Amino acid sequence: MKQRAYTVRLFEYNRPDELVEEQQKLVQKAMDAARDAYAPYSGYKVGAAALLLNGETITGNNQENAAYPSGLCAERVAIFYAGARYPDVGVKSIAIAAMRDGSFQEEPVAPCGGCRQVLFEKETQGKIPMEVILYGSNRIQVIKQVADLLPLPFMLESQ
Ligand code: THU
Repeated sequence: MKQRAYTVRLFEYNRPDELVEEQQKLVQKAMDAARDAYAPYSGYKVGAAALLLNGETITGNNQENAAYPSGLCAERVAIFYAGARYPDVGVKSIAIAAMRDGSFQEEPVAPCGGCRQVLFEKETQGKIPMEVILYGSNRIQVIKQVADLLPLPFMLESQ
């Protein structure tokens, strides 16, 4: 029998101005995207901003539907749109912010399991680590690669 442990490396900041400028701008774009989310059912608005290796930023926000499962999370809207617009370009970093009743969440909001799987595959395709920046008004967390958020990803043998 062999025992294995996985570690999540996490860097924590108190305020956005402690981040480098590129990260700050991405967080701002995620916050702007959150304001435009279509979330009339949950009232929970999430924004994501992905910085691509070609310098473009693609944003997304959650899109809900009266047939509830038909909606999609902010992260997947952003990553799928990035893939549709620039099929072969990797994602360098993604910022995520969430709000309710007009106020941003105090604690950072981490992507759901399904989104982690999608982010992981994009990271694998891009062949460089994708930084994940989680905004909360109390603290900001930075994870250096998606693989840290998804220790045992589903992968086809061909990948
Ligand atoms: N949501 C996201 O957009 N991203 C996540 O990582 C988790 C949840 C959305 C889905 C739904 O529209 C709302 O937040 C409440 O779950």
